[in-house]
Amino acid sequence: MTIDHVAIVVKDLDATLRFYTETLGFSELYREVIYDQGVEAVGLKAGDSSVELLLPLTESSPVARYRGDAATKLHHTAYRVADIDAALRALKEKGVALIDERPRRGAHGNLIAFLHPKSTGGVLIELCQPSRSRSPE
Ligand code: CO
Repeated sequence: MTIDHVAIVVKDLDATLRFYTETLGFSELYREVIYDQGVEAVGLKAGDSSVELLLPLTESSPVARYRGDAATKLHHTAYRVADIDAALRALKEKGVALIDERPRRGAHGNLIAFLHPKSTGGVLIELCQPSRSRSPE
């Protein structure tokens, strides 16, 4: 499986963006508000994958509470799948607990679903099926 993106929740989006672009050398791919997840997301190009910085829209949201006082904190890793419905079915058959039994819309129209960390060893894992307008590999 390919890594689609690694998501990092941040406290100060501008400062974090400056570090990732000016210091580390990443370039900005996309920026959009994902109301469903309560975040503004900025994607940075990392080869065929991306690093996604997430700024919580409110400080009372679960994402903000997860980050706490940290300036940045790794939030989830997302793996790209060609058929997210089939992948969810297969994982459920293997006894993996799912946060999302059915896929929902993520950034730029991708279909996404989260697996429950209690089944993954603690790391929040997202499955991501790119929308047809993007390359599916
Ligand atoms: Co994600």
